[in-house]
Amino acid sequence: MEWMWNYVFWSILFGLMPLVWHLRKNSYRRSKLPPGPRGWPVIGNLFDLGTLPHRSLAALKEKYGPVVWLNLGPIKTMVILSAGAAEELFKNHDLCFVDRFTNDAMRAHDYYKSSIPFGTYSPYWRTLRRICTVELFSSKRIKEAVLVRQKCVDEMLSWIGKEAEEGASGEIEVKRFLFPAIFNIIGNLTLSRDLVNPNSEMASEFNMALSRFIVCLASPNISDLLPWLRWLDLQGLRRRTDRELTKAIQIISGFVNERVKQRQHREGRATEHKDFLDVLLDFEGKGKDEPAKLSDHQINIFLMEMFMAGTETTSATIEWAMSELLRNPESMKKIKAELGSLLHHFDWKLGDSSSGEIKIDMRETMGLSARKLVPLRAVPNRLAT
Ligand code: HEM
Repeated sequence: MEWMWNYVFWSILFGLMPLVWHLRKNSYRRSKLPPGPRGWPVIGNLFDLGTLPHRSLAALKEKYGPVVWLNLGPIKTMVILSAGAAEELFKNHDLCFVDRFTNDAMRAHDYYKSSIPFGTYSPYWRTLRRICTVELFSSKRIKEAVLVRQKCVDEMLSWIGKEAEEGASGEIEVKRFLFPAIFNIIGNLTLSRDLVNPNSEMASEFNMALSRFIVCLASPNISDLLPWLRWLDLQGLRRRTDRELTKAIQIISGFVNERVKQRQHREGRATEHKDFLDVLLDFEGKGKDEPAKLSDHQINIFLMEMFMAGTETTSATIEWAMSELLRNPESMKKIKAELGSLLHHFDWKLGDSSSGEIKIDMRETMGLSARKLVPLRAVPNRLAT
């Protein structure tokens, strides 16, 4: 009988050893990780993020410091929450963390393979980044584009003036004019042409398709938490992403095809000015591992991302800045003095300021950038110049 107890004892001991080893390894790993809130099994810290994740993260910083560890379902996430920590990360550990997580929605149209913000670090990604740096972000290009920016802003001011004169209340929705103006700045920088006006259906269709596309990319998806269910696309997010991306690509490819035809028409005759799209169409990779040419699909995605990156971000930032200035007349006075004639076309007022009570809804919603939930409306009174 004794041999049997011995047998049971040693079996349990050997059976438990891998478990103890696993737990020890995990606690050792955990001890080397940054601090963070304890999560739930399977979902981890997903519910700690709430509906406004940037605010929840700011609150976590107060408790855990500038580097916080979160388990978002099975996705391990290190959150950097201070300028100092960001500097350390980008200066000394950039290459270790440079790859982006590919979620299931990004697989629609193989989008992630051609994307700058969501693509993996590769010779192709470096090629795109270099083209952006040389063709858009260099100080030479920014200086060259001053006239384009001025033209689009002037155009916006005349749209606003016309609307203010013709509209019953004189009040305008600022974003309705801001967005197309910025869209046209990017249009001029990339395609050398204005593309839209405030009444343009195409602008709003493209904007809606991009906004819905971004919402699909950013929505929590069960396929990312349980990858073996991916093929079922239970929430239909990949199908919806596919639909919105198809719409946005259709619009962009219309511009590209038009240019390809123009170029065929003027075959052999060089133009005096080569814009961003010409650079993409003429691209020939020479460096190691560079693509020989950019495919139509890659060009469409690249251009679409320039609009995604440049329009909503800039228009949301200006709308926020303008809301803050209208809430703070002292700052408005200072900035007018600093910027002089640039801001002197209109004396902006809030629609309800006559009641003595200034109200601006400063709630926000998450999109590509944190947008205002209720768009800013204001009255532009034209100043004599
Ligand atoms: C106020 C306006 C803007 C804001 C707040 C903004 C913000 C950002 C942020 C936070 C990133 C980093 C994204 C990441 O690493 O995942 C980024 C990247 C980028 N932005 Fe902007 N952006 C603005 C305007 C623009 C404009 C006007 C353009 C182009 C014309 C542009 C083109 C890009 C591109 C191509 C990248 C990717 C570069 C890379 O990943 O290295 N952005 N932007």
